[in-house]
This record gives sequence, C-alpha cells and structure tokens, in this order.
Amino acid sequence: MTWVPNQWYVAAWDSEVDRAPLARTICGEPIMLYRRFDRSPVAMRDACPHRLLPLSMGIKEGDDIRCRYHGLLLDSCGQVKEMPLKADRLNPAVAVQTYPVVERHRFLWVWVGEAAKADPDLVPDLWPCSAEGWAFDGGYYHLDCDYRLAIDNLMDLTHETYTHQGSIGQMEILEAPIVTRAVGNEVFVERWMPDIDAPPFWRDALRRDGNVDRWQICQFIPPSSVIIDVGVAPVGSGATPESHDQGVRGFVIDALTPESENSCHYFWGMSRNFDTADTGFTARFRAQQGGVFLEDVEILEAQQRSINANPDLKLRGYNIDEGGVKSRAIIKRMIRAQEEPAPEAKERIAAE
Ligand code: FES
Ligand SMILES: [Fe+2]
Repeated sequence: MTWVPNQWYVAAWDSEVDRAPLARTICGEPIMLYRRFDRSPVAMRDACPHRLLPLSMGIKEGDDIRCRYHGLLLDSCGQVKEMPLKADRLNPAVAVQTYPVVERHRFLWVWVGEAAKADPDLVPDLWPCSAEGWAFDGGYYHLDCDYRLAIDNLMDLTHETYTHQGSIGQMEILEAPIVTRAVGNEVFVERWMPDIDAPPFWRDALRRDGNVDRWQICQFIPPSSVIIDVGVAPVGSGATPESHDQGVRGFVIDALTPESENSCHYFWGMSRNFDTADTGFTARFRAQQGGVFLEDVEILEAQQRSINANPDLKLRGYNIDEGGVKSRAIIKRMIRAQEEPAPEAKERIAAE
C-alpha cells in the first residue's frame, strides 16, 4: 500500500456535496457522500449490501437511500429500514459500512481505517482555508498518477521555470538557494529571495514600488497535503523566514487524496490576506491558478505513463528532490508504524 491508513483524507469540497449522492473512491474504497436535511454529511460504502449495486445510483427518500436494483432501504447510519420484499422480516444484520466524516477548512474529510481511532483533532491543520481575515477558493482535478508524484512536484518548485514557462515561471527561482528540513512529521522547503524586483502580481498586491523580500515555503503535512506560504514584504520591513506578515501573503493549498495506486484526487486553491473582499479577484485568480495547475496535470500524467512503460528504470533523486524524498520517507515511516504490532503485543510475543 502506498498511503497511510487510519488518517483523515479530503473526500470533497464542502460545496461539492449536497442532497444527491456523490460517488468517489478514497484510498481504494468506493464511497458515497451526501448531506442530510440538517446539512450534516454522510459517508457510506458505495455498494448495496444485497448485490453490491452502487448505492450512489439509488433513490434518496428523505435522509434515507433506496437501492435502485431491488429496493432495499437504508437509513443514513447505514442500517436497513425495509427489505426488498415488504413482507420480509427486518434483519438488523443487513447494513452498509459508514465512515467517520467531518467538515473542516472548507472540505469534507473521511477517515479511512478503523473507525474507533477517528479523532477529529487529527484532521490536518489547513488553517489558511478557514481563518478569519483570509479569503480562500479553489478547484478539483482528477489525476491519473500516484499521489506521491504530485507531492514531489509541489515540494520542488524548480519545476516552475520549465513546466510553467508560459505562466508563472521565473529564472530567479532557480537562483535562490533552498533550505530543506524535516520537523517531526512535516517537511519544509524554504526559498528566501531578499531584495529583489517584485514580480508584477505581487507588486500589484502590495500596491507600492520598490524592491521586496520574497518567499516560497513549501510545507508537507501528512498524510498527503502540501501548503505553500508565498508572498512579499518591502525590503527593510523586518520580514524573516520565521515571521513575515509585514507585506502581502498567500497560501497555495494542495490536498492530494489517493484514489488507487495510480490515481488520485487533487483539491487545490489559494488563500490570501489581501483584497479579501474582492470576489472578482478571487474568481479571476481561481481561473488563472486552474490553468497553471493544468500544466502540472499534463506533466504528472505523462510521468506516470512513462514510469509504467519503463518498469526497469528507477526514479532518481537529485538535490532539488530533497523535499519530496523526505516527505516520502515520512509516509513510509507512518505506514510501517501501523504495520508493526503495538509495544505491549511485542512484549507478549517476546515473553511467550
Ligand atoms: S442490489 Fe440493492 S437491493 Fe438488491
Ligand atoms: Fe506546478
């Protein structure tokens, strides 16, 4: 398995899910999402307990769902309410698996693994998506590639210069040194560009001329998100890599959710702390960002096809790949930690 079990994964944007079922495979499990009348979200295995027809093809009856094949009726907790033959006795063993689901930071998160371990406090802290004073919006792409290739891509922005040649690429990104460090289960790749000419986008946002300090700090948050702290501050305003709220700032948000070993869901967006009430800006930026990320989609899917076509060749890591390599090492460590028996169990085995 290439993903970490017993984690919260983004299953959908909050706005994608309503009364009608949405089918989406998360970490290899077909799941159906919908909302009850009180707007609370439901995540249910997308397979009828009878003959496994996807329940997402079914008929909503209030908060319940009726299978479109033989009419089994299930409530929103996954319990049977009516058997196909009305005369049949209700068998309480007839049920469909439901998943813990929470709504946070504008996304619906589904817990994939043992439900008893689902703790809402463990939802990855994508705070810029929901914090006061920040404006956030974005979109969704389906990617035909291993989600870890997308993480590699986001943890190494040198690709901007070539992949995004026609849009946001800039030579100066290649000139700035990068510092990569792992802190606990997170990885930071930091690029600090002091005293440079502000690119047009940031000069407009800052609303003043003159040189700036510019930064790009990629942060891998397990199990599969990357947020990129970007912005500029006027030179001499005291901005440092640790603290930089003197100018204008944004966070590029990227939540990757594995669908299968070779495909994933990409939830992307941008949160910013300037011109936050300007909804026109939000819409224009979203369209522009969507265009830039389509350039990544083309690269990542072609890379996956090439990996599949060259099974005898290995991926190599150069210096620029350190962020991705460290992130993958954390993912691997977290997967292994779940595979190992718990310490008491180990002791018991040793004592036997
Ligand atoms: S397959 Fe759903 S009721 Fe038969
Ligand atoms: Fe990119």
